[in-house]
Amino acid sequence: MVQQDIERAVAILRRGGLVAFPTETVYGLGADAQRAEAVERIFAAKGRPSDHPVIVHVPAGADLGRWAARVPVAAERLAERFWPGPLTLVLPRGPRVPDAVTGGQNTVALRVPDHPLALALLSAFGDGIAAPSANRFGRVSPTLAEHVREELGSAVDLILDGGPCRVGLESTILSLVNDRPRVLRPGAITAAEIAEVLQETVGSGPGATAIRAPGLLDAHYAPSTPMTLVPAPALVDEAMSLHRRGSAITVLARVPMPVPLRPILGEGTKPVVWIVAPASSHAYAHALYATLRAIDRRQVERILVEEPPAIDEWTAVTDRLRRASHG
Ligand code: TXA
Ligand code: MG
Repeated sequence: MVQQDIERAVAILRRGGLVAFPTETVYGLGADAQRAEAVERIFAAKGRPSDHPVIVHVPAGADLGRWAARVPVAAERLAERFWPGPLTLVLPRGPRVPDAVTGGQNTVALRVPDHPLALALLSAFGDGIAAPSANRFGRVSPTLAEHVREELGSAVDLILDGGPCRVGLESTILSLVNDRPRVLRPGAITAAEIAEVLQETVGSGPGATAIRAPGLLDAHYAPSTPMTLVPAPALVDEAMSLHRRGSAITVLARVPMPVPLRPILGEGTKPVVWIVAPASSHAYAHALYATLRAIDRRQVERILVEEPPAIDEWTAVTDRLRRASHG
């Protein structure tokens, strides 16, 4: 069954079609990375501007040299340590990478995903699969096959269902083309873990070079319901004042609704829906996008989210919450 699905998926990729597949981070919308017209179909399906680059997924770290013009020692070390896994490396672009993949830039982003179905697909296909997250441009990434079906439906030729994504947030993107390594997008693999492997300091943000990366846009990964990130100590007051003004709100907190407030917040024509998110950053990340989608389905006027602790392990979650609550 699975083998048949993989064979079908490979056949679709070979004729330039689109296959959505699970990774450990989020679902990807894949096309043959060597075929510009196939990659262009991804942009059309997502409604994404075509000058934005996509990640090339490869079956193994040994393939880096097929896509990158140069493979720095740092890339080899990181591939050795973290692949397959939620780390994307930005390297100088090699000659066989189409412009459609890089958005015309002189770099290419590469990663080996850690999911049995993704790896089976990549090794059966035997080459690079270009894939952004399988959502409409600017929206929350899919962490279940049904999210892809809801959002992209018939624009995709096949959806491989691998169940829920383990990590739940997009990969860490690390640029190795600057003066020093830079995290362009935080993810499950932290800057500290990377620094430890490389034995050098790791920067963050795009730095002096202007890199076009939609994951770096302020308003990205957003639910349709307006969302506000609130410092933990102000959460209850903020919920109270919106509730008093008659707004239908959902609170995404890390603690239960305080008992004395239950008769107030939990009642009225628009009772506050108070969701207790998981306490650990990993479990929180795993559940986040599905939770935001579920909230979007209820007719809520605003989502209040308790700001996570300002410590390393929450960096990726906080980054996505900030972007989702922009504007
Ligand atoms: O976890 C992930 O990375 C998922 C799964 C499917 O692998 N993919 C993903 O793709 O999140 P996407 O396209 O939604 O986000 C990829 C990010 C974008 O912000 C894009 O701009 C950036 O990677 N990117 C791609 N190529 C780049 C490059 N050459 N230089 C800098 N950023 C690049
Ligand atoms: Mg995306």
